Amino acid sequence: MSDLAIEAHGLRKRYRDVEALRGIDLAVPTGTVLGVLGPNGAGKTTAVRILSTLIRPDAGSARVAGVDVVADPFGVRRRIGVAGQYAAVDEYLSGRENLEMIGDLYHLGRSAARARAAELLRDFRLEDAAERPAKTYSGGMRRRLDLAGALVARPPVVFLDEPTTGLDPRSRGDMWQVIADLVADGTTVLLTTQYLEEADQLAHDIVVVDQGRIIARGTADDLKAQVGGERLSVTIAEADRLDEVAGVLADLSIGEIERDEHTRTLTLPVATGPHAIVEAVGRLTERQVTVQDIGIRRPTLDDAFLTLTGHRTSGDAATDSEQSA
Ligand SMILES: Nc1ncnc2c1ncn2[C@@H]1O[C@H](COP(=O)(O)OP(=O)(O)OP(=O)(O)O)[C@@H](O)[C@H]1O
Ligand SMILES: [Mg+2]
Repeated sequence: MSDLAIEAHGLRKRYRDVEALRGIDLAVPTGTVLGVLGPNGAGKTTAVRILSTLIRPDAGSARVAGVDVVADPFGVRRRIGVAGQYAAVDEYLSGRENLEMIGDLYHLGRSAARARAAELLRDFRLEDAAERPAKTYSGGMRRRLDLAGALVARPPVVFLDEPTTGLDPRSRGDMWQVIADLVADGTTVLLTTQYLEEADQLAHDIVVVDQGRIIARGTADDLKAQVGGERLSVTIAEADRLDEVAGVLADLSIGEIERDEHTRTLTLPVATGPHAIVEAVGRLTERQVTVQDIGIRRPTLDDAFLTLTGHRTSGDAATDSEQSA
């Protein structure tokens, strides 16, 4: 196997009148995580389906674990695990039965299948629920079981399609830990997500996909530098003091201060949110400025897209949805 676990050149796929992929290139070194970041309909699942040989590309080529996806799909399937946006779990079987059944499908042999199932139930903290039907599992447990199923045969390359969409923050954190452990053991992971934060936590490299094209790639830091870091937003009561407040806070800002007269809000890109918020409250209190609202927000994926595609227009920021850290 070369030092690239996943390699794709010019992948294209069209569904009737939808161009789902318009030429995607990927190069994922063995033992690393690639985060594929993009909004609904970007083409993430389509890319995963091509790389995991569920569908064929209309054009382009790809190799996974050194094997060509079109020429030898079965060879690829022997070397990969796939956990999906829609968990492939048999609802009526228990967690243990689900995993043992997959072991049987891979012809591990009865006792090896049992041992592997037990090991995975332990690693994924599903032992207590092991004998319950999967239909009684929470969303987070179901996702963990689905991922455990993908790992039964110890594949060197794993595809995770939005593994945490719909999970609460705690389950999401658990899932991140599981994925980090997997990578620490040398597995190569391609992970799709709609969350900048998730790609940030897990991925060595990130590609940002929009409308079937890669519009940016780099490390999380590269992308954040393009998007800008945390923003402090301050809403005050007196509209006629906006200029004064902008002056008072100017040295906290690492970029241009956006001002919205309408909502009496200033938004500043800042280096360290907590520091900025403490400083701002102190300075404004001292001057008896009435602060109606103050908060830090991280760039949302919307901010990222606006920045990366160059469509950000002044005034958008105030209406962007907030995303807590
Ligand atoms: N089987 C299909 N038939 C027709 N169009 C499809 C099919 N699968 C996907 N598409 C279209 O291709 C585009 C890319 O879809 P895809 O599922 O790859 O996006 P995605 O990035 O995974 O989105 P999401 O975040 O919602 O899962 C979308 O416009 C989608 O409607
Ligand atoms: Mg999808």
